[in-house]
Amino acid sequence: MKKFARIVGTGSYLPPRIITNSELENSLDTTDEWITSRTGIKERRIVEDQNTCDLALEASINALEMAELKASEIDLIILATTTPDKIFPATATTLQDRIGASCPAFDIQAVCAGFVFALTTAQQYIENGVAENILVVGSETMSKIVDWNDRSTAVLFGDGAGAVVVSKDNTTGIKHAKLCSDGKYLSSLHVNNNGINETGTIEMMGNEVYRIAVNRLSDLAEETLKDCNMTPNDLAWMIPHQANIRIISAVAKRIKLPMSKVILTIEKHGNTSAASIPLALDVAVRDGRIKKGDNLLFEGIGGGFSWGSLLVEY
Ligand code: ACO
Repeated sequence: MKKFARIVGTGSYLPPRIITNSELENSLDTTDEWITSRTGIKERRIVEDQNTCDLALEASINALEMAELKASEIDLIILATTTPDKIFPATATTLQDRIGASCPAFDIQAVCAGFVFALTTAQQYIENGVAENILVVGSETMSKIVDWNDRSTAVLFGDGAGAVVVSKDNTTGIKHAKLCSDGKYLSSLHVNNNGINETGTIEMMGNEVYRIAVNRLSDLAEETLKDCNMTPNDLAWMIPHQANIRIISAVAKRIKLPMSKVILTIEKHGNTSAASIPLALDVAVRDGRIKKGDNLLFEGIGGGFSWGSLLVEY
């Protein structure tokens, strides 16, 4: 009998400090109007004395609670992050200790596509019978790698974490997954350090990122629907990586999906990289928009580039 990996719990956490666009007007040559019209972002959350694992821990506790599972019942922890607490050990191992689990734990790095890569990895473990309950987390403190003097990137990013518990299910769950990477785009979006002894900050060619993101994500969404014998009508919701409202609406338009079927959190969260999809998922599960049996399309693209999609029956 085929085994499915099914999402049985979601959780999220945002640090309390809010930075509004108006506040950024005090330190950067920018305006609320520019940021809102070009990105859809109004505010973002920023850590003050917390690290990526602190955010991941809170989101994971919430997801385990919804799943009605104890940390000791988790067989594997996969944490997607671009901003690990340390070069090593993996932030996932710190999370494993702090949450009270005793299973294997590792990090995945695919920048803003990290959660899609992590959930696809979890799917393999469950479908192959290696694990039954997996905690998958996207957690980021992007504020630590942003150049706060660069108005073209500083206005985009935020901090936060989202988590899901996926468990073995005999009926439904993740129906399709596809991952892609193309390393020739490194200079379009990267952290500009030379080697691990140097710290760097995010550097981005915004126009190129926009163009590639819209093309790759639209093509992938169409391919995913085709592979699943579905049309946009069969989708209850698309939950895209929350990079930029213009990227999201261009993709929705290209695949003929009405914006009323897109979960959006960009206005209040900004771009939280690997955390953005599970954060948006948790918001919409908890406010009742997402219901059991809904077909969900997750899509994300991240620096360098890596991108991927998942078709999930919730
Ligand atoms: N406030 C005011 N002006 C700004 C700001 C700002 N925060 N940032 C840039 N500008 C200026 C530029 O300096 C430029 O000025 P100039 O004409 O005097 O040189 C002008 O605005 C236009 O700059 P563009 O880069 O052409 O602006 P554009 O309309 O392309 O918008 C943006 C920039 C929003 C970054 C756009 O390119 C975009 O949406 N790109 C996608 C990038 C993205 O979403 N990245 C997120 C991370 S990647 C990911 O998660 C997939």
